[in-house]
Amino acid sequence: MKIGIAADHGGFTLKQHLLRLLEAEGYHITDFGAEALDPKDDYPDYVAPLARAVAAGLIDRGIAICGSGVGAAIVANKFKGVRAALVTETYSARQGVEHDQLNLLCLGGRVIGPELAKELIFAFLNAHYSGDARHQRRLDKLKDIENEYFK
Ligand code: RB5
Repeated sequence: MKIGIAADHGGFTLKQHLLRLLEAEGYHITDFGAEALDPKDDYPDYVAPLARAVAAGLIDRGIAICGSGVGAAIVANKFKGVRAALVTETYSARQGVEHDQLNLLCLGGRVIGPELAKELIFAFLNAHYSGDARHQRRLDKLKDIENEYFK
């Protein structure tokens, strides 16, 4: 599984922590930045390249972190084929993949601590889309909406 991660200054410390954690667990993970903590940086500059890579199929699961996770989710959902959500509990991190084929998890670096973040990303990464007919029907409706509004 190809994993990507991105964060602005609000999520930088958590990103570095999760990056080290995932690498220690044997995951190969692409870091879309920021490369250093810069209090003046802007979350779209890091989340958009990650979301673009997810949309292009170059990354299977993305993790985007800003201060609240809100800006990251807003940016990521601008990209066709990206299904991003701000998640703060493990039920949704898992079920979002199983039912909604969530492919980009957004976290608030100023909202959650490193241990909860760890549980969230493993719930997200270990989950699989169920493919059940009712979920596929809903995703097909989402695709129709995307095709209506996105290039
Ligand atoms: C940056 O200060 C902050 O606004 C940003 O990280 C994020 O929380 C936006 O949603």
